[in-house]
Amino acid sequence: MTHEHAETVAPHSPATVAVTAGRPPRVQGGPVNAPVVLSSTYVSQGVPGSEQLYTRGGAETWEPFESALAALEGAAHGVVLGSGMAAVAAALGDLPPSGVVVVPRHAYQVTLGYLDDLTRRHGLEVRRVDVADTDAVVAALDGADLLMAESPTNPMLEVADLPAILAAARDRGVPSVVDNTFATPLGQRPLDLGADVVVHSVTKYLAGHSDVVLGAVVTNDDEAAARIRAYRTLHGAIAGPMEVFLALRGLRTLHLRVERANANAAELARRLADHPAVAEVRHPSLPSDPGHERAAAQMTSFGAIIGLRPVGGREAADAVVAAVRLWVPATSLGGVESALERRRRFTTESVTVPEDLIRMSVGVEDVEDLWADLARALDGLPA
Ligand SMILES: Cc1ncc(COP(=O)(O)O)c(C=O)c1O
Repeated sequence: MTHEHAETVAPHSPATVAVTAGRPPRVQGGPVNAPVVLSSTYVSQGVPGSEQLYTRGGAETWEPFESALAALEGAAHGVVLGSGMAAVAAALGDLPPSGVVVVPRHAYQVTLGYLDDLTRRHGLEVRRVDVADTDAVVAALDGADLLMAESPTNPMLEVADLPAILAAARDRGVPSVVDNTFATPLGQRPLDLGADVVVHSVTKYLAGHSDVVLGAVVTNDDEAAARIRAYRTLHGAIAGPMEVFLALRGLRTLHLRVERANANAAELARRLADHPAVAEVRHPSLPSDPGHERAAAQMTSFGAIIGLRPVGGREAADAVVAAVRLWVPATSLGGVESALERRRRFTTESVTVPEDLIRMSVGVEDVEDLWADLARALDGLPA
């Protein structure tokens, strides 16, 4: 990618960056939006140089999205990949086969599954830690080859002291990766907090409409960016031009969607905390939440994912998911529509996640409608 767009918009606020970054140059009669180029190959003869050649190696439609996301994250490089998991795998691609990686015990379950697969096949040592316990993370970093952090975690919403653990990793020469899917670059910018590499499931808030599966990596490290681009080509972990176009279109309203979703989530968390059928609510906006103070200090917003445990355990959780009519019972998160699921319905979810935890992805609907649907579902639980 070029740096042109990021540099042009750098002094602007994130909302303006979301709207303006990655636009084509302003020329008389030129398009306002980057064109979608649907071509697997390009006219070329002779010895290949740096020109566009074949879409597995690079597509024009990637660059506008990559530069827009890089501008939002304050990064020199953005690399779009075929899914969030492709981004995670690419970011972990430099791990020595029998190396050591430190990861939150409640990281995204497929990230943990991928690491387990590397353990089975190559003998990778995975140190699963409570990422909110800074001393435990720092102790685990000794002799590690990589810190793969996530904050807030999926689905437990633990908040790491990112500046502290990223500094500890750097002091020990341990490269760090942060999955910033939950917070979005509007909630926190991990590169500014000391991370080497940031990964995203673009599928979620960045694209925002539950209509694409995509991933991305951003970094200031030239070598890491080159390595991740090479990984993308070698593994064929590429994004389709139409998907990238949709993701950039979604990114244009990221600030509006995230602002409304976050406000809805804070209001719903507050009301849920007072509901008699609720045993526990997890959301960093709540002063009682274990991650509240840390999130208030290092994030610019609290995010729009809520963890809910109804009174009555697993059966009650299943009953709530079955009873809602406006909320969509579905996996995934970060779409305009509110969705929820009991996480342990996946047999692969971490056993330390409570059986009755409902992960709620709060969307941008009217908060009173969301509350009415939820309250009706909770009121219907046996007393
Ligand atoms: C935090 C986090 N990281 C990574 C991923 C993987 O992204 P994708 O589903 O786009 O492969 C997810 C998906 O749920 C996620 O929640």
